[in-house]
Amino acid sequence: PITALNHTLDNEPQQITAPLTHSAAFLVLTVKDDEASLAKVREVLASTDDLIKNTAIREIERTFTCNVAIGHRVWAPLVGSTPPRELKPFQEVKGATHTAVSTPGDLLYHIRARTMDLIVAFEKNLLLAFGDAVEAVDDVAGFRYFDGRDLLDFVDGTANPEGLSLPEATIVGEEDPDHAGGSYVVVQKYLHNLDAWRAQKTEAQEAIIGRTKHDNMELDDAPADAQKSHKTLCTIEDADGEHEILRDNMPFANPGRGEYGTYFIGYTRRLWVIEQMLERMFIGNPAPLHDRILDFSTATTGVTFFAPSRKVLADLGD
Ligand code: HEM
Repeated sequence: PITALNHTLDNEPQQITAPLTHSAAFLVLTVKDDEASLAKVREVLASTDDLIKNTAIREIERTFTCNVAIGHRVWAPLVGSTPPRELKPFQEVKGATHTAVSTPGDLLYHIRARTMDLIVAFEKNLLLAFGDAVEAVDDVAGFRYFDGRDLLDFVDGTANPEGLSLPEATIVGEEDPDHAGGSYVVVQKYLHNLDAWRAQKTEAQEAIIGRTKHDNMELDDAPADAQKSHKTLCTIEDADGEHEILRDNMPFANPGRGEYGTYFIGYTRRLWVIEQMLERMFIGNPAPLHDRILDFSTATTGVTFFAPSRKVLADLGD
């Protein structure tokens, strides 16, 4: 029993499967390449659990969670081990009309809580701990918009896996034993053209998403060779059945600057599933029938990471 318990603790994931919250931050950092910076980053990553506890305890409802994920460029220098089997830099996807760009990022902090104060306090302490070993390349504050809507006004997150399907879809297992308990993470920051979106009739918007706007009911799939909805393009099926991912997208906005966006974050046990979704969205299925959501949304970043098990992080302190 003791060995069984140790085994479970060894592979304990970070808080990947925690529920959506009212607030979230997506902090992307690059790591400086000199040995002193790498050593500092290893030390801060190893203290992730303690840094989280310092903030989480301050809220009685305990909604605060944080996941940290590591990019391909710094995996070997930081962690030392062979990288997770599928980990690679985000591959640009160039369709006839739209491109999923690939942008820099070595560390991702995905921080969730009911209120923004905890998130900002955590980020402040985290960046203080890192000192000048890292540079922030992006920091997006997301908020819950009414009944879980994105800024296109559709409910976002409905089809996410639940129950036992959730860890099955998101947490690496025996197929890569050195990295069991980890999860691949892909992020993209999208900016919406709301004037163009508003100019569409509701029925046209619903056909693009694949759900009704008011009631959030699924629409039927289009015939095989016709223009598919976002929902259908992102449904990946093969002989093993449907392959789901976990999305924790959040709206973000700066109305004074005319910025309205969706921060896409997807967790998956199989990176190829998200890659296939992106190909179907940007290249089209069949090509060149791309996801029409892209005619109203521009991807301005794209980065791939791996969120290792808690023990892999803690061991960086040895
Ligand atoms: C479904 C919005 C980007 C994957 C949906 C739905 C909405 C939505 C409203 C339907 C409700 C739901 O099931 O959540 C958006 C917006 C995006 C975006 C506003 C960015 C502008 C992406 C990207 C991916 C993705 C980049 C994957 C690479 C999915 C999946 C589903 C989905 C897997 C569920 C499909 C199913 O019904 O099984 N999205 N999405 N989305 N989206 Fe997105």
